[in-house]
Amino acid sequence: MEQTLTAEFLRVAEQAAIACARSIGHGKRKYSDQLAVEAMRHAMETIQMDGTIVIGEGERDEAPMLYVGEKVGMGMGFPAIDIAVDPLEGTNLCATGAPNAIAVLAASEKGGLLHAPDLYMEKLVVGPPAKGRVSLEATVGDNLHEIAKALSRKVQELTVVVLDRPRHEKLVADIRQAGARIQLIGDGDLSAAISAAVSGTGVHAVMGIGGAPEGVLSAAALKCLNGEIQGRLLVDTNTASREKAEDMGVDFGRIYKTEDLAPGEHIIFAACGVTSGNLLKGVRFFGDGVRTSSLILNYSPRRVRFIETVHIEPGEDVWVRF
Ligand code: FBP
Repeated sequence: MEQTLTAEFLRVAEQAAIACARSIGHGKRKYSDQLAVEAMRHAMETIQMDGTIVIGEGERDEAPMLYVGEKVGMGMGFPAIDIAVDPLEGTNLCATGAPNAIAVLAASEKGGLLHAPDLYMEKLVVGPPAKGRVSLEATVGDNLHEIAKALSRKVQELTVVVLDRPRHEKLVADIRQAGARIQLIGDGDLSAAISAAVSGTGVHAVMGIGGAPEGVLSAAALKCLNGEIQGRLLVDTNTASREKAEDMGVDFGRIYKTEDLAPGEHIIFAACGVTSGNLLKGVRFFGDGVRTSSLILNYSPRRVRFIETVHIEPGEDVWVRF
């Protein structure tokens, strides 16, 4: 069953990526997102599962599809699956043709993914060597020294990815003070988090405040890749949304670890490149054919697959290239 679902979720991520990739660089982030959402929702219809969206495009009254609580798949009688989606992670990246836009989803048995509200989360992400050696409660300098030690290199040889936001002024100053290098990104801390757990990407850590839903999706990937994320949810100044988050059981002081964010035993994670980036190539169109690059992760049994797919369905004369 898990193998069938893995293949199905790969297809779902690919369809979302292909749909929005047709709008790369068109400057319409909402439209690109809509294309990805519609394609992802449509691709899920035929999957033999009783799926529930636990992280999605918002609440039922604000999102027409893939909203939190929506039932997806063929329904009753099939396995109950919780699903977290980000049909287009990096809507601006797609709209401007910038690197690292991806189509993403994670799935698990019921209760295997934290139902995180749409708030900000302070994050610290590292790869396997530094797992267990860093803490959100430590100083930026101490964490960087631990990461450097774990990787047998100097702090000056580390690259930390940080979202380019005014709120990160102090964080950036602290990283510079410690001597590490910084890659400031416009969007896409989920894609950066995956890169931090894969050797050879040139990303050694991700620090700073980003979306909590992206934090849960990152945790699903990092758990499969032996990496680590720590996250602390930030109190919203809006009282109504703070009360709602508390009703959902959110503990604002708590440091959530990878296992708290993605406790599932049967996690499946699928990401397909929309624009080319550190880890995945973007969608390539050629004649009637389309080529996609994806990352598919399973937690049990543990598998990491990089998948190149050439989609040639409608084209009788498509010539596949090596
Ligand atoms: P979208 O895909 O919704 O555009 O979000 C991308 C993103 O950059 C995430 O990667 C990140 O976690 C979050 O937005 C940061 O939020 P903000 O843009 O409000 O700082």
